[in-house]
Amino acid sequence: MDDAVDADGILLSALAPDSRDDPYTPLAALRDAAPVHHHEPLDTRFLTRYADCQAVLSGPSFAVPDREWLVRERPEWLDRPAADFFYASLLGTNGAAHDRLRRPLAGAFGRGRIAELSADVERTADELLDRFADATSDGGAADFQALVGYPLPVAVVGGLIGVPRADQEQFHRLGQDAARLLEPVRSAADWRRADAAVTALREYFAALLRERRARPAGDLASTLLAEAAAERAPVAEHELADLLLLLFVAGFETTAGLLGLTVFALLTHPDQAALLRTDPALLPGAVEESLRWDGPVLMTERLAVHTTEVAGVTVPAGGSVTTVLGAANRDPLRYPDPDAFLVRRPDVRVLSFGAGPHYCFGAALARLEAVALLGRLLARFPGLRLAGPGVRRPSACLRSFDELPLATTGR
Ligand code: HEM
Repeated sequence: MDDAVDADGILLSALAPDSRDDPYTPLAALRDAAPVHHHEPLDTRFLTRYADCQAVLSGPSFAVPDREWLVRERPEWLDRPAADFFYASLLGTNGAAHDRLRRPLAGAFGRGRIAELSADVERTADELLDRFADATSDGGAADFQALVGYPLPVAVVGGLIGVPRADQEQFHRLGQDAARLLEPVRSAADWRRADAAVTALREYFAALLRERRARPAGDLASTLLAEAAAERAPVAEHELADLLLLLFVAGFETTAGLLGLTVFALLTHPDQAALLRTDPALLPGAVEESLRWDGPVLMTERLAVHTTEVAGVTVPAGGSVTTVLGAANRDPLRYPDPDAFLVRRPDVRVLSFGAGPHYCFGAALARLEAVALLGRLLARFPGLRLAGPGVRRPSACLRSFDELPLATTGR
């Protein structure tokens, strides 16, 4: 079938390293050719329309691959520490098992608690921008991601959880390695990196919990221990360590992506950056537009709980679908002129944080960090500019700059 051959080719080109700067053009072609496309070698159906992705993520007919799936379909992964972690985590549980893990975190990530963090976020952003100003004061370039994009979310989520500042540096590499678990196809090297990182991080967070049990502090690690001890949350200590691990890695890998991608979007659309400089009230909308235009998580997988249909295509029980969030966010049926980056775009409701039971815990925190940082960055550096090509993360799922050289003066 010619159509199927074409759609496979387009899909592979969207996922290829050559398309890392712009996977959206091939994804739009895939949406036009086959909005629900079954890629047989990967045995998953790629969904590129907004309405289909939202329905799958929010509705009761689909679930995440969990431990039962692991035991049934991939027993060869059972000995892997990274699989043991992932398929018992929030991202790898469904229904009551998922609710049990999510409940203890609700207070910590409620609106009130996030608003309280605002002053800390702003202070940290100012400190990091001081370093960035020093590094670029001679007119030269500095790597925005190394100086600001990574350290800000690491400090914020680390502070929330209770990871001491001195320990935070070591997590950059471990976080990247653990995040290989999100690759749609994990190579042997991905597994090796993820296994080693999960093992090291589990040890770290188990030790942190032991320390906080002896000497409670006002952080999330201490709060979770207190709740578990009072049996308000029936979660074992090794599960608490895994929760902290997930929050920590999910909290900075993605947010660092958002910060770099947003700065890049603004610097490549100077008219839009100028609008923000004159009217900072547009900042929250600009962050939403950045999440829509080029968000950090390109796709996520679900399995059909029973035989069901997506846009007229039958998906058998257990069949896999991949919701391509980045493509959904550029669906012309949802957003007119979807490829334009417009900080004043009305009615933006991104799928970049997912939807339904697994909706991102840190969405409010990530938005807070991005708004605080961008406002300061634009106000403080009127001459901010790209100072060379960035280096994008070699990943098919996580979109981020590993390096983004910027300068603040001269040309
Ligand atoms: C721009 C930044 C972020 C983006 C784009 C993002 C994206 C996402 C997405 C797409 C999901 C759903 C995955 C799925 O349904 O399969 C998710 C889940 C999650 N996120 Fe985020 N995230 C961000 C920041 C954060 C932060 C700051 C934290 C924590 C401090 C966090 C913690 C989590 C957790 C714990 C889950 C799992 C929720 C569950 O499965 O119940 N994220 N995130």
